Amino acid sequence: MLRQARIAVLVSGGGTNLQAIIDAQQSGIIQNGKVELVIADKAEAYALTRAANAGIDTAVLVKKQMSQADFEAGIVKLLDEYKIDLIVLAGFMCILSGDFTDKYPERIINVHPALIPSFCGKGYYGLRVHEAALEYGVKVTGATVHFVNSIPDGGRIISQKAVYIEDGDTPEILQRRVMEQAEWIILPEAIEKVSKNIIAGE
Ligand code: GAR
Repeated sequence: MLRQARIAVLVSGGGTNLQAIIDAQQSGIIQNGKVELVIADKAEAYALTRAANAGIDTAVLVKKQMSQADFEAGIVKLLDEYKIDLIVLAGFMCILSGDFTDKYPERIINVHPALIPSFCGKGYYGLRVHEAALEYGVKVTGATVHFVNSIPDGGRIISQKAVYIEDGDTPEILQRRVMEQAEWIILPEAIEKVSKNIIAGE
């Protein structure tokens, strides 16, 4: 087996995107990368159980118990220890500082549950994004995978997929459809593409 990019996934909650990544490794959609570590900002994140079930190492840094600088220093230490090549934010609800993102140019990717530049940036995360899309009355939404820089949701776009809004949608129904029809597909595909580029560039 040729070298694979060593991936860390940062999570905060249920971890359905993490599950999609694990499944994509098993089905061969992701071949050029391997998840070596999952880091959560809270101990109760169910994503940690998904990682453990898949035999992936986990770490928890409880963000609310420390300063942003200590939180980020803790992440950097883990990334160094595991020799991580690619950082994937999959339902990670914390904003990372410019000091952190500048250390990893084009080596951090994020999945956002809307078509950037709509419904993105500070304050737009999780269900709130879908509430905003429904409040505005857009007829099409979707998901975006992008590189992470110092501007929240502002880095270069890697891929996007559109999803139609349907009559009777609630934020919860729409969130699920955006995950099923977009996030769980484009995030693993983007990870494979970026991992392949990392390996090819060595
Ligand atoms: C996903 O919809 C993800 O795109 C979103 O939160 C959900 C997490 O689900 N992320 C953000 O809003 C980040 N700004 P998951 O924990 O089941 O993957």
